[in-house]
Formats: sequence, structure tokens, C-alpha cells
Amino acid sequence: MTRQRSPGTSRSRTPPSTTRNAPRPATGVSAAAQGHRPTPGVWTDEQAEAWRPVVDAVHAKGAVIFCQLWHVGRVVGKLRPDGTPQPVSSTGRPIATPRVNNGFEEEFATPKRLDVAEIAGVVDDFRRAARNAVDAGFDGVEIHGAHGYLIEQFLKDSANDREDEYGSSLENWCRFALEVVTAVADEIGGRRVGVRLSPFADYMDCHDSDPHALALHMATKLNGVPCGILYLHMVEPRMARADGRRVVPKRLRPYREAFKGTFIAVGGYDREEGNKVVGEGYADLVAFGRLFLANPDLPKRFKLDAELNKYNRATFYTSDPIVGYTDYPFLG
Ligand SMILES: Cc1cc2nc3c(=O)[nH]c(=O)nc-3n(C[C@H](O)[C@H](O)[C@H](O)COP(=O)(O)O)c2cc1C
Repeated sequence: MTRQRSPGTSRSRTPPSTTRNAPRPATGVSAAAQGHRPTPGVWTDEQAEAWRPVVDAVHAKGAVIFCQLWHVGRVVGKLRPDGTPQPVSSTGRPIATPRVNNGFEEEFATPKRLDVAEIAGVVDDFRRAARNAVDAGFDGVEIHGAHGYLIEQFLKDSANDREDEYGSSLENWCRFALEVVTAVADEIGGRRVGVRLSPFADYMDCHDSDPHALALHMATKLNGVPCGILYLHMVEPRMARADGRRVVPKRLRPYREAFKGTFIAVGGYDREEGNKVVGEGYADLVAFGRLFLANPDLPKRFKLDAELNKYNRATFYTSDPIVGYTDYPFLG
């Protein structure tokens, strides 16, 4: 263990006046996991059934599909409707800075700090959701341990102020994440499980005083999950710009070397840079976010080295199911 500091003390930097919108949504593992937004879930049989035609349509095209499982934890607006579950987290502290959502500033709700006895129930929610996802036909699940949501609220010392076995040391900060991964891998088999981490990100007041130590610890510990896992998917630190191009910081090599399974890098890549890093062995695979969103036929365009549609940042993260999601044109 390399970092030696008390939890909750890494807030030396000036907090921003609003919280940046974190990438969303994945698929909820319980009602509490959703916050109060109209996002998909997979914790009931009915939801699992509803996924089946989606999964079948993907398989019919010869592709594979993993379901990304999340729990938002304390990322829930203050004005949640009556009857929605109280947000829970590693901490009882809300996210301090409001976020701007569709032009409105939104303050965050105060979460209930999960008791140790309650944590097992949340781990079980992930397990059950993974079972439902696989029963619905998904090829596997990706556990969302990134971007300021519940798992990161445990992983990172700006959010985790616990002093029990889930806090106050690197080993303990990582305990919840590893319990979730182990339970899910036991349930559906490690070959169906991926994990996404963003150690360098600072979404939703979730940052870490020593992201390198955190990433290295997690990459190493994931090798020891009894059933193994299929892949580790890690987000690059924020990219810079030079000569009008995005420059990927490429700081994930130590974790790629520490982790013994398939390693996926994401964040700022394009066709050229993606091919380059896979060719060099820096990553086994590269994932694309915004380019895929704006180009429904991205693999074909990459193959042909065709021109790409430009993404429209204004329609990211809106609740419209079509605009900004399924209305970008195909080639030709
Ligand atoms: C509209 C939008 C929605 C996203 N949703 C998710 C999500 O549900 N889960 C997740 O882990 N990342 C999500 N992301 C982040 C992307 O997966 C990716 O990490 C990010 O866009 C950086 O990669 P890129 O430079 O290739 O875009 C989302 C990004 C965008 C733009």
C-alpha cells in the first residue's frame, strides 16, 4: 500500500461551481440504483424479458452485447419524487456542488450512509441483476466501477470517509468493488464479467489523492478474483489538445501490465491512435464512446477509412430516446 492519508482530506483543490455531468446511463441493479431518472434496469423478471428482443436483435447482426450494471449511489437530485428510494452511499455527505441538467441547476440529495450489514444486500443486487442479464441473453456484464457512481464512492478517498472495514485504507476502499465483482463472477462465471474503472476521473466529487496506487491495487486484486474475470476496461486521464487533435495521455500501461486478462483502454481515441496502441500492445482493445454514438456504422467507416459524422455535444445525456442517440446517419 503506498498511500497513507486519512480519508476525506483530498479536497485541497477549489471545488467547481457546478458538477460536470458524468457519462450515463448504464443499467440499474435495483430501484435505489436508478436514482429517479428514466433509465433502464434489469433487477426484475419483467425488465429482463424486455431486454430479450434488444439482445436478440444484436445477436441477429452477429455482434455480442454486454450489459453495463450500475448503482448511482448518491448521484441523485434533491427534488426526487415521493416514493422513490432514499439514495445510499459509502458516505452520508451529499455531492457538494450542484450539476446543470438541461439548463437547470440541480442540487444533490443527502444519501444514507450504508451500514456494513446493508452492504451485502447491495452486493446481492449486483449478483441478481447479472443473473437476470445473462438469462435475458446478454453475453456478459460490465460492472460500472467508474465516473463517480456507487462503486467509485467506495473506491475514492474524496468520497469514502468510512472508518470501518470499507474505509480508511486502500485495501478497505477497494473491498466493496471486489465483493461485487466476486459475487457476480461466482454467479455467472468470470468469462462473462468485465470491470470498468476511471481512477483518474473526478466526476461527481469523486476523485482520489493517489489514483495510481488505486488503479494498480485494483488491477492486481482483480487477478485474484476466484472465478477470474474477462477484462479490465480503464478510462484514460483527461485528454489534452494539440494542433487541433486530441492527445491521449496514455498513462494506463502500469495497470495493463499488472492485469493478466484482456485490457481495454478508452478515452480520446480515434481510428489511427486506436490501431497504433493495439499494435504496440499498450491495450488489447480500444473502446470508443462519442465516435460510436455519432456513427452507428463506426466499424464499417473505420474499415473504409470513411469520413465520420461529428458528434453533437448539446444532445449528450438528454432524456430523448432518439435525438442524439439513434438519429445520426449511416454511411451513404
Ligand atoms: C452520451 C454519452 C453517454 C455515455 N454513457 C456511458 C455509460 O453509460 N457508461 C459508461 O461507463 N460510460 C459512458 N459514457 C462514456 C464513454 O463510454 C467514454 O468513456 C467516453 O465518451 C470517453 O471515450 P471517447 O473519447 O471515445 O468518447 C458515455 C459518453 C457519452 C458521450
